[in-house]
Order: sequence, then C-alpha cells, then structure tokens
Amino acid sequence: MKVVKSKKALKEEIHRAKKEGKIIGFVPTMGYLHEGHLSLIREAKKECDYIVVSIFVNPKQFNSEEDLKKYPRDFERDQGLLRQENIDLLFLPEIEEIYPEEPKIYLDIPSLTNKLCGIYRPGHFPGVLLVVLKLFHLVEPHKAYFGKKDYQQYLIIKQMVKDLDLDIDVIGCSLIREESGIALSSRNARLSPNGYSDALLIYRALNIAKKEWQKGERNPENLKEIIKDIVETGALNRVEYVEIVDPNTLESVKEAKEGDLIAVAVYTENVRLIDNIELRGES
Ligand code: PAF
Repeated sequence: MKVVKSKKALKEEIHRAKKEGKIIGFVPTMGYLHEGHLSLIREAKKECDYIVVSIFVNPKQFNSEEDLKKYPRDFERDQGLLRQENIDLLFLPEIEEIYPEEPKIYLDIPSLTNKLCGIYRPGHFPGVLLVVLKLFHLVEPHKAYFGKKDYQQYLIIKQMVKDLDLDIDVIGCSLIREESGIALSSRNARLSPNGYSDALLIYRALNIAKKEWQKGERNPENLKEIIKDIVETGALNRVEYVEIVDPNTLESVKEAKEGDLIAVAVYTENVRLIDNIELRGES
C-alpha cells in the first residue's frame, strides 16, 4: 500500500495505474475505519483492480467546531487495517492540501438536501458534495463506493454525478450492522456502555415497525409513532426525526408501500446516530 499526502503525488500514482489499464475503485472515508468501510473496500475489490481509499476529516461538512473536534481519529490503526485489506493507494491529505484557501463555490441539490438530515444539518450536504467532487476530480475513479447507512448522502452523490455528467459509477453498498443490530458508525466509539445499550433500541424499533408494516399497517404516522415510543424508552435517547420516504425522491409518503425507506436520526448521549430500514415483504 502506497500512502500519499499531496494531490501531485496522488495524480502521479493514478495516472500510472490508468496507463496500465487498471480499473480504479475509490472508497472515500473520514477514517476511524470499521467493518462498514472494509465491506466497501471488499465490494470494490470484486469489481476493480486498483483500490484507492482516502481518509480526510472534512471540516466543511461539520455543523459545529465541537462535533469536528470530537470526531474520532486514529490514522495509525486505520493504516494497519488498510494494509491488511491490501489496498493499492491511501490518500491522506492535510486540510491545507484540500482547501489551500476558502472555496468560493457552493454546491447543493436543494430538492434532496432540504429533507431528513439536511433540515437539521444546514451546510452539511453542500460540504459533502464539495469534498466528494474534489476527490472525484483528483482520483478519477471508474467506480466509487458509498454505504447506504448514509442513504441520503448516497442519493445526493449519485444525483451530482448524473447532473454533472461525471463518468463514475456510484455504487451503494448495504448497511452493515454489528451482531447486536446497531448500525456500524465511527460515532459509536463515543457511546458509553449505557449509551450503547440505549442505541440498540433504534434498530429494534425499526424492525418492530417493519413487522407492523408486514402485518398490514400502512399509515406512516402510526409507524413513526411506534418507532418514537420505543426509541424514547431509552433514557439517553432523543429522536431528532423519523420519516418514511420514497427512496428516489426522499419525499415523505402518505401511505407506506413496498420499497419505501424508514429513516431516523437519534441523539444518544449527544452522539448523533442515523439508521434506516427498507420496507420489504420478507424479513
Ligand atoms: O461518508 C463519509 O464518510 C463522508 O461524508 C465522505 C463521503 C467521506 C465525505 O467526506
């Protein structure tokens, strides 16, 4: 695994790989890697023969200095994990390399960002779009891999690629859970044992709502109420939102149907956790 910190060195490596006819698979991350990230790398390896991972904690997508400061980091451990996965290239830039000066451009897709997390995190998705577009230009991947835990992010990036005619295949990969059911997230590391046990209620609630839907409950308000009630039995939990949305438009639905998505954001001990589940006939 080669580690590069500058855009120049990154481009040299990429151009060499492209000259050799390699198919470039890209997994952008903010580090503190877990099985979810590793599953993206493994997906990429199935379809590509040159794997690039970036680790960059992007300040532009954080809503508060405190959240940015508290974001867990362990670049040494991350590099060890990436070596085990046998990736080809790690891009590990400093902030000044990505933002040598304050960018003046502002990217947004309001019809997708003015919903769900975008309502509560103003500027977050424009910050994600900016860094991902920059990274796409630098890495020039054939395929890029995103986890569907961040479903809204995945959809927004897919839309950007479509609107800007970028020649990149954006691939959404399944959300990965621990055995306990909790969705893998770098933020889980900030939970205390009590917080962790309250956070387990999130997936439990999503599952119970899905079962109610399978039994015939179609009213989104009733399903949302079920989830809220269960999650809020956890003393450390505060529901930010629960929505049932069309997976293509993220519009709230009037009747919950097959393929719709239940998306939630919950604060557990001041740690913001998101999760989602697809409504499907089978379990
Ligand atoms: O999902 C993430 O980790 C980040 O939002 C991403 C896509 C790496 C952009 O900073």
